[in-house]
Amino acid sequence: MDALTALTTRTSQGALTEPAPSSDVLNTAFQAALRAPDHRLLRPWRYLIIEGEARQRLGELFLQAGLQDNPALTEVEQQRLLKMPLRAPMIVVAITVAKDDPKVPSVEQVLSTGAAVQNFLVAIHAQGFASMWRTGWVVEHKHILQALGLLTNESIAGFIYLGTAANAPRQPTLLTVSDFVQQW
Ligand SMILES: Cc1cc2nc3c(=O)[nH]c(=O)nc-3n(C[C@H](O)[C@H](O)[C@H](O)COP(=O)(O)O)c2cc1C
Repeated sequence: MDALTALTTRTSQGALTEPAPSSDVLNTAFQAALRAPDHRLLRPWRYLIIEGEARQRLGELFLQAGLQDNPALTEVEQQRLLKMPLRAPMIVVAITVAKDDPKVPSVEQVLSTGAAVQNFLVAIHAQGFASMWRTGWVVEHKHILQALGLLTNESIAGFIYLGTAANAPRQPTLLTVSDFVQQW
């Protein structure tokens, strides 16, 4: 798939199934992520791959965090948290590693991570796989951050769910450029 086609046809897929991207596909997608614009080349990112049985451990972590916040969770709510990471065969956690730099505020480092994630999603799509970028309260919960090994200068930019689209890919809504772009 050529670059412009990949950029203009990528859509998020909530329903993801096996197979997960192979290690070659994943490696190419990480190479694309590592080409993100990066002020002063701080390399303010790192990634965790969660697959197979590790997804169950992540679900247990989500449940523990949910119960910390609300010990009265119903059985249905508990099961939902436990099964959240099983929505795809693979998850990549994108992490901003904020570096101290006199010229690059942390917001720029978060922006760089966002650009990296977008490169990653497009590269996954270009190779025939599908993805969904998710966040929510789980990216901020202390218990989850600690168990994933994040340091105090690190934050989660997203849980990227990865796999094969279970349904026919959604057609992207083509927006009208002039609604968003003006001459100044
Ligand atoms: C930083 C970020 C966080 C997101 N978090 C969620 C989320 O937690 N749940 C969700 O349903 N969509 C989330 N989205 C949106 C989806 O990933 C997706 O972009 C959106 O559904 C639009 O679909 P499209 O990518 O096919 O245009 C998030 C997007 C971004 C950029």
